[in-house]
Parts: sequence; structure tokens; C-alpha cells
Amino acid sequence: MDSAFPFGFPVATAFYLVLYVLTFVLHQAFMHYVLAGSLCLTWFTISQRRETVGWARQPLLATLREWIPFLLSAAITAGVAPLLFIQIVYQHQFYTANLLLWWRWMIVVPVLIVGFYLTYLVKSQRLWTWPYLVRVAVLLVTSACFVFVGFCWTANHLIANRGATWPEVYTTGQLPFTYTEVIVRMLVWLAGSFPTMCVILGWQLFYRERVSRDGAQNESGQDAWGTRALSRMAIGGLAVSVLAGATYILVIETSAKGLVFGNVGRPYLMMGALGVGLQIGGWISMFRQNRLSLLLLGFVSAGSLTTLVCISVLREAVRLSAVDLLSLADLHAKAAEVGGFGVFLLAAVVVSLLIVWCIQLVRTGTTTSNA
Ligand code: HEM
Repeated sequence: MDSAFPFGFPVATAFYLVLYVLTFVLHQAFMHYVLAGSLCLTWFTISQRRETVGWARQPLLATLREWIPFLLSAAITAGVAPLLFIQIVYQHQFYTANLLLWWRWMIVVPVLIVGFYLTYLVKSQRLWTWPYLVRVAVLLVTSACFVFVGFCWTANHLIANRGATWPEVYTTGQLPFTYTEVIVRMLVWLAGSFPTMCVILGWQLFYRERVSRDGAQNESGQDAWGTRALSRMAIGGLAVSVLAGATYILVIETSAKGLVFGNVGRPYLMMGALGVGLQIGGWISMFRQNRLSLLLLGFVSAGSLTTLVCISVLREAVRLSAVDLLSLADLHAKAAEVGGFGVFLLAAVVVSLLIVWCIQLVRTGTTTSNA
């Protein structure tokens, strides 16, 4: 394996790898909004002890409360596509890890259901009339649900990559990684979720401001506090994530480092750095101007997308050092012969249109209720 990802693999393997990475990027974008959004709401609720209903109506927080339930549905829906492709690409690695995770894997769905209903409680006005401690408790539990689900995906990923430890995990029930490794890895995606959330939320606040300016349909306007909070969260999240990523690279196997810094990963490492640079530059400019601008939001969006694609490829490069994917090439070729890609594309288009329609419905509802 000496060519840039995904070259160097047979066509069918490369095809499924690319589909896996692209669909995973979509899952990440939505999931980051939910993760960072719930953590952000939790933090502001804890820190704003005295304020209640008025604070929860602040545009940045009101938008998060309004949209997290929808974005959670989108994250779950968008998780299905990479879930399908990962099973084709890695086969028994994935299923075995699911089985070895045992109860932790079994409770992912119930935890997601609890988190899902709590996001509706957070969205309601009622919660914000309840005592401070109850509000904080509800938000802490909501965030904990999503962090736990993310942890389970991390644990599943790490077990899948360590075939040699499976017999021991089966007999002892002990997970095959240290606290340090899992915490550093979780820090990469926990902190990294903030810049993505800030991009999506930035567009939402920008649009809100447009509506209030053009049609005087709401009174919130674009607030300077919101722009500064977004810039701080995006830059802080990027800094912590890059630091955690650099630390993570120090602890991975030498073979994995070889792929990340070698021909497979180097182009993505460089493009990823460019993506981070674009985001930091864009957010600093908006912080200085005290307002969100169309051009700069375009810059940070391009930077964010580039970063997400690159980090997903680099994540894959680490896995490729642990799994002999070429030995599964025949199975990938067989899967490609089965067909069904047309149906997948049709389903992807229909589901995307339905999602856009739902957004339109929610947006109309939001605008009407704000009027
Ligand atoms: C709010 C709920 C969720 C959160 C917070 C979440 C979080 C995450 C995180 C953090 C990862 C990357 C783990 C790592 O690389 O260390 C991940 C991977 C993934 N998630 Fe999600 N996830 C959620 C729901 C779902 C759901 C419901 C599905 C499926 C329908 C799903 C499908 C996937 C897939 C396929 C991967 C890639 C696994 C791999 O490559 O090993 N996720 N998720």
C-alpha cells in the first residue's frame, strides 16, 4: 500500500471504501451538531444560574434547542449508510467487535431513545420554568447519553482493529485499550465536534438575521454575542482537537504512523491542515468584525468539509495498518456483482428530498411561531 487513499486497492474495494468515508462524513456533520450542541447548552445552562426563560430564548441557544431533535434524527439516519458499507468493507471485524462489546453495545439503542426524548424536553418551554438544579440535571443526562453512544462507537472501533486480543476480551471481558488511549481519542472527536456545530449554527443564525432584516419576521437579529461565542467555540475546539490528534498519533503503532505520514495519508494530512487554517482564519475575521458574513461562512464551511473528509481518511489509514484489506478483495468484488447500487442511489435521493422537505416544514413552523 504505497499510493494515496483509495488508490492501491482493487476497484471494488476502493469503491466501497470511498462510499464508506463519504457517508461517514455526513454522519459526523449531523452527529457533531448534536454532541457539541447538547454540551454547549449544558455549559451555558450551568453558567447562567439566574437567567431562565429569557436566556433560553437567546438566538444561539434557542436555535440549538429547536434543531437538536431534528439533527439527531438526521445523524441516526445518516449513520445507516456507513453502517452498511463498513460491514461490506471489513466483514467479520465489525460483527466480532459488536459481540465482544456485549452489554455496552446492547444498551446503545435504549440510551439513544432516552437522549432523543430528553432533547424534546430541552426544546420545550416548560423545562426552563423548572428549578435550576433540575434544568442542569436534564441537560447533563442528555449530553451524557450522546457522549456514551460516541464512546461505544470508539470502543467498537478499537476492538475491531485488535484481532489478536479477541480471545482475551472474550474470556476476561476486559476492553483491550487503556484509559489514556480512549480519552485522547474521545477528545479528538468531542472537541472536533464544536467547529462543525459552529459552521452549521453559523448558517442558521445568519439565515435568522436575514429573515428578521428582510421580512421583519422575527426580532432577534444577528447578535454580536452569538458571533463571538461561535468563533471562540470553533477555534477552541479546533485547537484542542488538533492537540489531542497529535497526542493520539504519538501512541499509535509504528505501522499506523507509516500510513498516516506516508503516501497513503500525507496528502490528506496536508489538506486537513489547510482546512483547519481556513476555519481559524474565517472565524478570527468574523470575531473581529463582530458579525457573520456570507463569504467568511463559505470559507469556514469549505474548511470544515475538507477537514472532515481528511480526518476520516486518516482515521481509515490507521485502521488499514491493522486490517489486511487486500485479503478481503474477492469478497468486495463479489459484493459489487450483486448489484443494488441503483436502489441505494434512489433511496439516497428520496431520503435526501424527504429531509429537505422536513427542514422546510420545520423552518416554516419556526418562522410562523416567531412572527
Ligand atoms: C447521537 C448518537 C451518535 C453519536 C454521538 C455517534 C458518535 C460516533 C462517533 C464519535 C464515532 C467515531 C468513533 C471513533 O472513531 O472513535 C461514530 C462512528 C460511527 N457511527 Fe455514530 N454516533 C451516533 C449514532 C449512530 C447511529 C444511530 C448509527 C447507525 C445507525 C451510527 C453509525 C456509525 C458508524 C457506522 C460509525 C463508524 C464506525 C467505524 O468506522 O468503526 N452512529 N459515531
